[in-house]
Order: sequence, then structure tokens, then C-alpha cells
Amino acid sequence: MAKPTTVRLVDVGPRDGLQNEKAPVPAAVKVELVHRLQAAGLKHIEVTSFVSPKWVPQMADNAEVMAGIARQPGVTYSVLTPNLQGFEAAKATRPDQIVVFGAASEAFSQRNINCSIAESIERFRPVVEAAHAAQLPVRGAISCSVGCPYEGEVAPERVGYVARLMKEIGVDDVYVADTIGTGTPHKVQAAMAAALAHYDLDHIAGHFHDTYGQALANTLAALEMGVWQFDTSVAGLGGCPYAKGATGNAATEDVVYLLQGMGIDTGIDLDKLVDAGAYISDFLGRKPNSRAATALLNKRQA
Ligand code: HMG
Ligand code: MG
Repeated sequence: MAKPTTVRLVDVGPRDGLQNEKAPVPAAVKVELVHRLQAAGLKHIEVTSFVSPKWVPQMADNAEVMAGIARQPGVTYSVLTPNLQGFEAAKATRPDQIVVFGAASEAFSQRNINCSIAESIERFRPVVEAAHAAQLPVRGAISCSVGCPYEGEVAPERVGYVARLMKEIGVDDVYVADTIGTGTPHKVQAAMAAALAHYDLDHIAGHFHDTYGQALANTLAALEMGVWQFDTSVAGLGGCPYAKGATGNAATEDVVYLLQGMGIDTGIDLDKLVDAGAYISDFLGRKPNSRAATALLNKRQA
């Protein structure tokens, strides 16, 4: 399989990243982060989620954030919705894409969305129907595609099972998520292959958390299979409140550096992206969790 010549990155920092911060992040800061990401050339940004504020208070300002964004043509702004209640609230804020999120592990499904895998599919079914009726495409996350914080290793067959169910209810695209970042390249390739039995390469993405430092290697492994869409997080922000100890996604800066070095186009201006990462990291009072951003910021100072 030839490596892709173009890669599309979805920056999930405003959602996956900021859902996991202990200190409150004002809506205005989230909006400014989205503005800086689009100024850096990101064409797809996962902005927020319409989940229960009791479960994830960090995303309670979802409507305010969506309303604050000065939208750029050609940019897709997606939001997470676990059920119809979330979808209805989301729809009013005019997202471009809906994300439903299931899991390949029963225990994680219960802890994260309070229902079994089968029940989650039944909750997603009317969401997909309503989204399609509103001409909105739907992406489906398959969490714990490699490992689960409660069940340990997850077999590729579990990923194939969820991908098949998502396909059956009409989910347009899926992303294979290594929620806790325990995956290594061959395991990630096996999970991808299981999902690829139901979705073709244009409808599948990788979403790799970097807890064990494997996210870049896993990205390369998926790229070698022809996968050309990845979720990444500016400054390496992120984690899931229901996957304790998991760190952020592959830093967007690191993935852009990798792809640029391989001659693969992303349409992203790395310098502006580093600025966006520095902006949110300054606000959070820490350094960007990205080796490429750190190197480039040090070089600027020298
Ligand atoms: P539940 O308690 O079973 O829901 O939670 P319920 O239907 O029984 O409703 C209970 C209460 O929640 C009611 O309010 C509802 O109105 C409210 P009350 O009467 O008690 O005041 N409620 C809602 N409020 C706002 N928006 C909604 C909504 N739905 C119900 N959409 C539920 C089920 C799914 C709502 C809950 O478990 C939940 O919100 N979970 C979200 C967890 C989450 O956001 N996790 C992080 C995102 S996933 C992730 O990070 C992984 C990913 O990055 C991929 C990867 O890395 O693996 C995507
Ligand atoms: Mg995630």
C-alpha cells in the first residue's frame, strides 16, 4: 500500500483536550484556540461535546463556544453527541458534523456513557437518522480499540464488531481510538484492519493517545496501511475523564512535523500551529506537550 500524499488532520484539542482540564477554561479562551487553529490551516476542528454537564462539566459551555466562533468557509466544526438530547442541543448551534462515540470494550462503554455497547448503538441509531435528516454527516468513535483501562487488551474482533454495528446504523465514518495509548504499531494495524473490513480508507481515521509515547509510531503504522485521516491535539492536550491516567492525543505539531518531513501535505502552517499550542499552554500554565513545538520554541529563543 502506497503512503498517502495528503493527510487530513482533525484537531480535537478544544474537545478531547479541554474536557480533561481540572481548572475551568473560559469559553472565550476555547473560541480563541479554535480561531488560532483555523488560522494555522486546520480544516477540521472538533470543538466541543453535548454531553451531560454532570458527567463532564468542562464542556457545559458548548453552545457558548459554538456561538462564539467566527467560522471560516471550508472548515468543518464537529461536536460529540451521545444521544438525541445531545443532538437536539447541538443542532441548534449549527455544527457541520456529529460524532457519536462507542467503545470496543463493554466496561468502558458502561463507565463512559452508562450503557452497554448494544444499548449505545440503539441510542446512536436515532441520532444518525436525525443528523442525516438535517444533512449532517456522522462520525463514530471506537474507543478502547487496542486496550481498555478496565478490561486490559482488546481483541481486534471487538473493533470489527463495533465497526459493523456502526455501519449498519448508517454512521458515515469511523475512527479507531487508542483511548489509553497502550497500543503499539502492529496492534494498531490489527485494530485498523478489523475496522477496514467495514469502512474503506476514505472513511476511517486514527485517534491515538500518546500515554506510552507510541502515538507517532502508531500514526506511521496506520499511514503505511493507506490511512490518511488522523485526530491529533494541539500541544498534546487531552485525555478522557473516564480513562484515568491516559494522556493527550498525538500532538498536532509533532504529526505535522513528521508528515512535512515525509513530503506529505497537510495544508498546515507549522509556525502558526506552534503559536496556537503556545497560546493554550500559556493559559494552562505549562509547556506544550509536543517535542516539535518545544524544539521550535527553543530555536526561536536562541
Ligand atoms: P445517564 O445518566 O445514563 O443519562 O448518562 P440519562 O439519559 O439517564 O439522563 C440523566 C441526566 O442527564 C438527565 O438530567 C438528563 O437530562 C441529562 P437530570 O434529569 O438528572 O437533571 N442528560 C444530558 N444533559 C445534557 N446533554 C446530554 C444529556 N443526556 C442526558 N446529551 C450520558 C448518559 C451519555 C448522558 C452520560 O454518560 C454522559 O454525558 N457521558 C459523557 C462522557 C464523556 O463525555 N466522555 C468523554 C468523551 S468520550 C472520549 O473522550 C473518547 C474519545 O476521545 C475517543 C477515545 O479517545 O477513545 C471520543
Ligand atoms: Mg480521545
